[in-house]
Amino acid sequence: MMQAIVLLGAPGAGKGTIAEGIKAATAFVHVSTGDMLRAAVKAGRPVGLEAKSYMEKGELVPDAVIVKIVTERLDQGGPDAQYMFDGFPRTLEQARMLDEVLVEHRGRIEHVFLLDVARDVLVDRLAGRRVCRSCGAVYHVRNIPPKKAGVCDACGGALYQRPDDTEETVLNRLEVFKRQTQSLIEYYERRGVLARINAGQKREVTQADILAILGKPTVGR
Ligand code: AP5
Repeated sequence: MMQAIVLLGAPGAGKGTIAEGIKAATAFVHVSTGDMLRAAVKAGRPVGLEAKSYMEKGELVPDAVIVKIVTERLDQGGPDAQYMFDGFPRTLEQARMLDEVLVEHRGRIEHVFLLDVARDVLVDRLAGRRVCRSCGAVYHVRNIPPKKAGVCDACGGALYQRPDDTEETVLNRLEVFKRQTQSLIEYYERRGVLARINAGQKREVTQADILAILGKPTVGR
């Protein structure tokens, strides 16, 4: 039976960061539509070319594109795969598509974790984010700095600032989240699968809170 959990949260809430910790402690396969789209842009694939202009403006990529890449990704997994979605679903249409796929595989959504963070903290996190060009590791210039400025601890790659982390685009992304993605909170709340998580804490604490709900308590807590 296919199983799914969803990390839902505004830009900068820490979905990608938290996903790394959950992945290390569980069997969940991390599926980030943002990472998939950035890879498609980098590789110059048609899907990337279609998505690029939306991403640069901080707008959502059309549902049809997202449904296509997610369906292709899920088709590669076995019937008992466990998925952790990050940045997907983002609209009611995407949520309904996910429901259909899960029904087909006799699967279900176990939990939707809503990562709650104050708006000023989100803006600060996005402004200070740096990403490794080679391996994709994520840092923050103050909160989670690399040992050597501008260099990835994991692989020595160069760190860069995402083009959609400029002030103007960040403000639009936060607006788009409010307008298009917040309706999902109610959708999953009604289904009884929504867990609100205080993601304004240290990442280890947020990870431990989620792992406890998943029945994998962290040693020492
Ligand atoms: P996507 O890549 O999904 O971006 P996002 O949702 O805006 O989220 P972010 O990646 O910006 O933030 P995050 O929550 O992962 O935070 P992170 O862990 O990096 O999407 C990009 C674009 O692609 C969208 O705008 C859209 O155009 C398109 N797209 C993607 N999916 C789509 C979909 N399903 N439908 C339509 N369009 C789609 O952390 C942020 C920073 O904070 C980092 O610097 C990190 O080090 C730091 N940090 C994290 N946790 C903590 C902590 N606990 N304490 C201190 N600092 C922390």
